[in-house]
Amino acid sequence: MNKISDRLNRLSYSQTFVMSNKARDMKAAGIDVISLTLGEPDFDVPQKIKQAAFDAINENYSHYSPVPGFLELRQAIAAKLKRDNHLDYKPTQICVSNGAKQSIINVLQAIINDGDEVILPAPYWVSYDEMVKLVGGTSVFIETSIDTDFKFTAEQLEKAITPRTKALLYSSPCNPSGSYYTRGELEAIANVVAKYPQVTIISDEIYEFINYEGEHVSIASFPQVYEQTAVINGMSKAFAMTGWRIGYSACPDWLASACDKVQGQMTSGANTVAQRASITAMQMDPSELQYMIMEFHKRRDLVFELIKEIKGFKCNLPKSAFYFFPDISYFVGKNLDGFEIKDSDDFAMFLLEKAHVGSVGGVSFGSPECIRLSYAASEEDLREAMKRIKDCVEPF
Ligand SMILES: Cc1ncc(COP(=O)(O)O)c(C=O)c1O
Repeated sequence: MNKISDRLNRLSYSQTFVMSNKARDMKAAGIDVISLTLGEPDFDVPQKIKQAAFDAINENYSHYSPVPGFLELRQAIAAKLKRDNHLDYKPTQICVSNGAKQSIINVLQAIINDGDEVILPAPYWVSYDEMVKLVGGTSVFIETSIDTDFKFTAEQLEKAITPRTKALLYSSPCNPSGSYYTRGELEAIANVVAKYPQVTIISDEIYEFINYEGEHVSIASFPQVYEQTAVINGMSKAFAMTGWRIGYSACPDWLASACDKVQGQMTSGANTVAQRASITAMQMDPSELQYMIMEFHKRRDLVFELIKEIKGFKCNLPKSAFYFFPDISYFVGKNLDGFEIKDSDDFAMFLLEKAHVGSVGGVSFGSPECIRLSYAASEEDLREAMKRIKDCVEPF
């Protein structure tokens, strides 16, 4: 008898966690593994955010908060959205959650009926497809490739829309490709979506500040889709607060109250101390975060030079976030030292076992020809990891 629900049986474990756990187990067994699997900044939380958390504890912020978050935090988020993204939201349109992950699933739970289609341009963040399955929806994928920097076009989107399409879900800047969409590209996408009022855009902007080359544009800033867009963002990446678990959605009124309803029955308001600290985060000027961005930028340039030297790796320069997503199809179909490489998951496993470098295969990102390497790691580790990979694949 299978006691687990069909719904859950359809779900996969996050490949990111599978690979990072395996890397951790190998380390625990005494093997010198360099893990480039996880997407989390290796910086400390800025001191004034920590201080705000201490103050919140001392001021006894220890009771339930309102379901969508403290009013002061939602006001600070609204002010941030105005300051950085030229977006107008009232605090009642904002719902603070336990991370952007929860904000996304709140929106999906609010709008998806069984069999509704959600368009996912591939590569997509690993959890999107699984969340769609969890709420009973069907993912419809748009294929992209390294030749277009893994970006989808308005034309591709229009072809993918059917009467059952309920949502378009993507991240810009993108995990895993490191690409971001320009103002012109987003406007073209917005013009298509505006023709289909049943379609909601779920715009995941969690890597907003980690952009080395261009301006970050939120698609909600195009008035033709404001009423159709849920903006998702949070504290994890920009403020190195992954463990504090604070994210948020900013939505049109009709959707904001639905998110509030979902969250009220699932988890209630997010952690109160982390919420109070997030007020300070939201009030910080983005220039105060530049030291982290500059460091990521330096590492990106370093890894790009090193990765170009690796046989069989085809790679564009990622312009944002902190990932490389090289195309390794050169190795697919080969036998590498006893490892049958059917796809990039096999290749990632080969690298872990043979080079002792942890990466994540692209299958669960919807791109089985690529692997994801996070460069949220020290320069020393990055140099050593690239050397190990280069030496390991050289003979093939
Ligand atoms: C694209 C994307 N969205 C959302 C998240 C989740 O963010 P949070 O930690 O706020 O739940 C991640 C984390 O890796 C991510 O890469």
